[in-house]
Amino acid sequence: MQRERWSSRLGFFLAAVGSAVGLGNMWRFSYLTAENGGGAFVLLYVLFVFLVGLPVLLAELAIGRGTRRSPVGALAELGGSAWPALGGLFVLSGFLILAYYSVIAGWTLRYVFDLATSGLPADAGAYFDGIVDGGRAVGWHLGFMLLTVATVLGGVRRGIERLALVLMPALFVMLAGLAAYAATLDGAAEGYRFYLAPDFAQLGNADVLTAAASQAFFSLSLGMGAMLTYGSYLSDDAPLPRQALSIAGADFGVALVAGLAVFPMIFAFGLSDQIGGSAVGALFVTLPRAFEEMGAVVGTAVGLLFFVALAIAALTSAISLLEVVVATSMDALGWPRRGATLAAGGLIAAVGILPALSVDSLSLMDRLAGELFLVFGGLLLAVFAGWFARSPREAGEREAPGELWRGSWKWLLRLPVPLVLAYVLVRFAQNLF
Ligand code: PFF
Repeated sequence: MQRERWSSRLGFFLAAVGSAVGLGNMWRFSYLTAENGGGAFVLLYVLFVFLVGLPVLLAELAIGRGTRRSPVGALAELGGSAWPALGGLFVLSGFLILAYYSVIAGWTLRYVFDLATSGLPADAGAYFDGIVDGGRAVGWHLGFMLLTVATVLGGVRRGIERLALVLMPALFVMLAGLAAYAATLDGAAEGYRFYLAPDFAQLGNADVLTAAASQAFFSLSLGMGAMLTYGSYLSDDAPLPRQALSIAGADFGVALVAGLAVFPMIFAFGLSDQIGGSAVGALFVTLPRAFEEMGAVVGTAVGLLFFVALAIAALTSAISLLEVVVATSMDALGWPRRGATLAAGGLIAAVGILPALSVDSLSLMDRLAGELFLVFGGLLLAVFAGWFARSPREAGEREAPGELWRGSWKWLLRLPVPLVLAYVLVRFAQNLF
């Protein structure tokens, strides 16, 4: 069977940005920034995105496009018998991340529904406690999985690409609108200061460093073969380094703008002490409090805009997580898309019931799969691309000389990237035990 292809470069770009831009850019980025001292975290994060994330992104795209296979097959083709196990880790990561990602996305859908039908909650904390886990959370998680499965059933062009073409521009406009509104609030300046002015003392803090590293991988959808899989549907002539740079730039840009919306809102209403610390739920409780302060009508409108944007971001990312598992089942087991999507989607939905019932298990899965596995997967992938991978067949024809396998970025993949990631992993292990 002919492998599916994106219908245009713009389609690929928006789908890849759709994967990268997700809950990570708004929910995770905001609480990590708050928790890790603001500007210093943002600065380290930029460095990680462009110096560590970008080369790995390029490697994923190159491996995918060069082999036109999903992770397990691609690593086997370029690396021989030992490497497909890394592809197995990728699929496992996609499976586990989607299971809890969908629960958080489910909260988001619930917020949209409740805001639209009954306005802002009287007590945001009590409201969040009421929806975060239990039977209701399971229901919204399953609803979100249904949307994800329906999109992936449509395939690369008619499902994934078409959705991204419509939703991503809408998301950009909504976020820009939110940031512009936030700028009009009295007291916004304090939010900007916290967010953008680095406290240089924090730069040497190893916890801030590891948080920035794992966030860069999570946000760019790296370390689990999502970009590799999307790259495998890419046409021969797309210039990979430029594509990778635009994807990383867009992902960072969206996180930056999301922060420009979130922090002024939180600081303008004196809620800054509430966002750091309590991690997972922080944004879901603090922001609605800020919306409340804006008054019922404006607050509901701004709240709806925010949570609709968040739901859109989550959906276009979730489909890439599912696509990794689906593409691998199609390639490795020869299943048709329909059967693979229904089986993988059903299984992931079932596993997601656990994090929907317990926030503690959700946090644990995020630390394990969303942080540890991705950084570990990224490290191995960098080593693979830097040292072990054979050039993809016909690579000489596909890539302009000096651009890809011989380019200077490969030097980054050989030593600096693995060393930095190894350090991050050691720190992780120390914190875990
Ligand atoms: N990049 C997504 C986000 O920032 O929310 C999450 C994600 C999607 C991670 C796909 C990994 C992945 F393969």
